Amino acid sequence: MCGIVGYIGAEETAPILIKGLKRLEYRGYDSAGIAVLGSAGLTIRKSKGALKNLEEKIEGELGAGALDGTMGIGHTRWATHGEPSDINSHPHTDVSGKIAVVHNGIIENHAKLKVWLMEHGVSFRSETDTEVIAHLVNFYYKGDLLQAVIGALKRLEGSYALGIICENDPDRIIAVRKESPLVVGAGKGENLIASDVPALLEYTREVYYLEDREIAVLYRDRIEFYNEEGEQRQRESRHVEWDAAAAEKGGYEHFMIKEIHEQPKALRDTLRARIKIAGTKTINLEEIGFDASWAKAERVVIAACGTAWHAGVIGKYAFEKFARIHTEAEIASEYRYRNPIFNPKDIFLIISQSGETADTLAAMRLAKKSGARIIAITNVVGSTLAREADLVMSTLAGPEIAVASTKAFTTQLMCVYLIALQLGRLRGMNDTELAAHIEALEKLPEQAERILAGKEDIQRFASLQFNKSKVFYMGRLFDYATSLESALKLKEISYTHSEAFAAGELKHGPIALVDETTLVTALCTQPALFDKMDSNIKEVKARHAATAVITYDDVDYFDKTADQVFRIPRTLDSLSPILAIIPCQLYAYYCSVLRGLDPDKPRNLAKSVTVE
Ligand code: AGP
Repeated sequence: MCGIVGYIGAEETAPILIKGLKRLEYRGYDSAGIAVLGSAGLTIRKSKGALKNLEEKIEGELGAGALDGTMGIGHTRWATHGEPSDINSHPHTDVSGKIAVVHNGIIENHAKLKVWLMEHGVSFRSETDTEVIAHLVNFYYKGDLLQAVIGALKRLEGSYALGIICENDPDRIIAVRKESPLVVGAGKGENLIASDVPALLEYTREVYYLEDREIAVLYRDRIEFYNEEGEQRQRESRHVEWDAAAAEKGGYEHFMIKEIHEQPKALRDTLRARIKIAGTKTINLEEIGFDASWAKAERVVIAACGTAWHAGVIGKYAFEKFARIHTEAEIASEYRYRNPIFNPKDIFLIISQSGETADTLAAMRLAKKSGARIIAITNVVGSTLAREADLVMSTLAGPEIAVASTKAFTTQLMCVYLIALQLGRLRGMNDTELAAHIEALEKLPEQAERILAGKEDIQRFASLQFNKSKVFYMGRLFDYATSLESALKLKEISYTHSEAFAAGELKHGPIALVDETTLVTALCTQPALFDKMDSNIKEVKARHAATAVITYDDVDYFDKTADQVFRIPRTLDSLSPILAIIPCQLYAYYCSVLRGLDPDKPRNLAKSVTVE
């Protein structure tokens, strides 16, 4: 969703803001703007469309007057209230033009506030909910920006991350958040704010993840933190392990293909931290707090959205198989409104790459209220999810910049397997079975490398198929779950109509859509069901669909049935999704590129969906 940056220091700010916004482009946006405070006062420039439009607009002005200044705020907007336009772009100002605000989130009571402000003589310029904030801050401004913000916050309902500056209060930026992420970076003689860490890494790796309703006041030489009542508080910074290079393309054409290639390392890192090698290898989750007390659970409920939900569906199969425990995988946006039935003995497993997805957080909070214990799987250490869960297991994937999730997904799976196996162990899984699974998990990174080494085969296949108007993925058991993720990847970045279905459902409806314009990819990694899959492939072939199969490298079962067979290294049936998804990620990537699209920034999508 929207991206926020802010800088206060000794450097010229406009280029820093633009660079920071570029680092946040992956979040998704449709317009951009900056506000710089300098000797000419507050100067605002905004532009609809890509950041380059804004860059072109300000090109001649840099170093030449109005945009000179060593503090400012910037924003990339993902439109919610009001169409993408110059006027609706942020920053927004109050009537006097002295207070500028950038905002990520939704002010739910903006309509009421607008009426109230209009009754007090304010006239509005934009259609946004954000503009009310600028006017409100002005309403409460009596010479102290911090107090004005505190006054305005009392009136706001909804979610917000805010960066606010004021011409009459020229040496500080006020930042505050509620339900939308905001990170403060502490530099030397300069301080910054951003929606996400990649925008800060060039300047500092010391960060503060703002807490809900916490206010940060950034001066050039210090940062102060306050609660909503204006009481000052002390905070400890965190050191970010990623360096600036982790957020660069590193020679790859796109972040997505880089991140696909980073999977072996990410899987290795995520696994290695949790395996105890003394004597027989065992899984060690005690450090994160997963001890024997968790074995008393009566049910596991997994809640997540999108790709993370697909990891949850695989989790359902894995928990039931390894730990023989009743497990549900819930779409968070459905779950939160369903008046679900709780049991305080449930384990709640919440999966979210960003740790900031609005529906996922709402589901987590609902579960928490019921007394259930929460385990979070997330890639962002200081995220809201990580802070509010009882136990946090990090996917050690490094920053994922591309909107389409790849390495976050496979590392989420690694975490899910580790928790499911450990719960299985606590509930009676024997040593031999556990050892076989650990051994198989340890092979996965190298096996993933082997799949990536054969990527040209997928590229070639994509060059023949990328114009197919319909692509279906089908599979059974774990392969059905992998199909869901494969179809999502393809539709997200290539805009191809793609769907996934449980292969057994083929005859119950989907086959009506199959014709010569269709590609059907069958995921076949569950040997006990090969004959069923073979029949399904023959059924779609008989309707003139092109067919591809993904199966193990020692299987020739489908060679005569399918038009094309892609092979992945042999692993345990239950672990196959980590490998089988890789050819599908590659296929989606190549189709996107062949269609002339930018796989990193698909239309209409945002990396982190922080509003409903
Ligand atoms: C993945 O490719 C998607 N962009 C999307 O489905 C994503 O997984 C979903 O929005 C959940 O995000 P989260 O993991 O940050 O909660």
